[in-house]
Amino acid sequence: MPLGDLKTTRLPAGAVLVVGAGLAGLFMALKLAPRRVYILTSMRQGEGAASAWAQGGIASAIGAGDTAADHARDTVAAGDGLVDERVALILTSEGPARVRDLMQYGVEFDTDPRGDLVLSLEAAHGRPRVARVKGDLAGKAIIETMVAQAKAAKHITPLLGWRAETLLSDGKGGIAGAMARKDDGSLMAVQADITVMTTGGVGGLFKITTNPKTSRGDALGMAAVHGAVIRDPEFVQFHPTAIDIDQDPNPLATEALRGEGAVLVTADGKRFMDKYHKDGELAPRDDVSRAVFAQIQKGEPPFLDCRAAVGAHFPEEFPTVFASCMSAGIDPRTDLIPIAPAVHYHMGGIMTDDEGRSNLPGLWAVGECAATGVHGANRLASNSLLEAIVFGNRAANAINTEDHPKRQADHIGPQPWLAMTPDVSETLRIAMTKYCGVLRDADGLNTLLDIIAELTDQVGEANPLIAARFIASGALAREESRGGHTRTDFPDEVEPPRSSYITYDQLV
Ligand code: SIN
Repeated sequence: MPLGDLKTTRLPAGAVLVVGAGLAGLFMALKLAPRRVYILTSMRQGEGAASAWAQGGIASAIGAGDTAADHARDTVAAGDGLVDERVALILTSEGPARVRDLMQYGVEFDTDPRGDLVLSLEAAHGRPRVARVKGDLAGKAIIETMVAQAKAAKHITPLLGWRAETLLSDGKGGIAGAMARKDDGSLMAVQADITVMTTGGVGGLFKITTNPKTSRGDALGMAAVHGAVIRDPEFVQFHPTAIDIDQDPNPLATEALRGEGAVLVTADGKRFMDKYHKDGELAPRDDVSRAVFAQIQKGEPPFLDCRAAVGAHFPEEFPTVFASCMSAGIDPRTDLIPIAPAVHYHMGGIMTDDEGRSNLPGLWAVGECAATGVHGANRLASNSLLEAIVFGNRAANAINTEDHPKRQADHIGPQPWLAMTPDVSETLRIAMTKYCGVLRDADGLNTLLDIIAELTDQVGEANPLIAARFIASGALAREESRGGHTRTDFPDEVEPPRSSYITYDQLV
């Protein structure tokens, strides 16, 4: 592979390098004002950010009669024993103020004629608390608003079209910025005193996913090789109602549809969720995903039936889902929607404290690529956008109130381009879905690790392959079934619940 030209740049003292331009990165960048912020992103406009694809909306205890304690209780229950309750309470206590911040930035959530927020019910929430925008357009509307705010902010400088590839070491165990590459192979070393990873999740490592294909766990790989602790990498969330049509990534049919009363049925219209969980269609996401997968395995393909619950209102209430269905010739007003579970969210990631600090001095992480312990083994619906803004704000406050030593990279030089070729990518994605999907076992996970090793021999230790190794190794080591991680060879939970903390040196 070509080595490419290399240029180097040093950010001003105390400036922050944010890697990634989804909701976590943009919100934090705005909150860091007036501190200088440079946003490094392979995107041009925020169009590839997973945040922009979020349909359901943003959960918070903002409605009359709701409380942070109730929201935290639901978050803890969904997380199946592994949620850090203290961190969950931080999320839910600070959530309403941050949602109001979004409104001040200009996000127009759906309101009733009195001007109060319309709040929707989603699975495993004890009450309606999800704010939406024009039905299923919350992610898109929020990201558009954040991009406009960031463009207008004088303290923010975008570095567009650069994909971060490695982190720069300061030679003393800390991180001093990042090395990024353009599509033409050229390299740029950006030295910074403070580096924050906000690159999102891992869905692009899997064949069946609702995430952008560019969400491949790069931050995890980059941080891990420098010694960052990776927490709970095995916990990947499957969304039960990805639309099963010939599209890659799979479009989502938002959980809000089930909140409105849509039901899961067989091809002949018979409901099946009551056989799997007492809460039926509104059971936690991991339970519904396993049920949907079991139906597929039984040869009884599952469908989402929105005809009675949404019917003629579909185009106005859920325009994104409607357009996806119609593009495949399915009219959800009259037809059943074919569904399958798809990788949707990564609960694991770079271990951080509740203000985004990793164990490496100078390196912070926020949003889906971070693991604070707030989601445990299974994230509660619509808590992800909330996580991005609550912890983005906390990281910004912490960065703005502490002193930061000058960090200088100990070595900057050309590096090989470890590009994932289309063939390698496709082989990895198919293997991840087959062997590390809704159901897992030791034989499959060992096969997967062999495949990852072969692919690594072909292209070198590319970040997605490192991230895949963490997920597969974590899944092999966790000999129990909990939350989003189901081992057919270890079907029970092991008490007491424990998080896993893995470093690069410990990888299988
Ligand atoms: C959905 O709309 O079903 C997804 C929302 C989420 O992932 O929380």
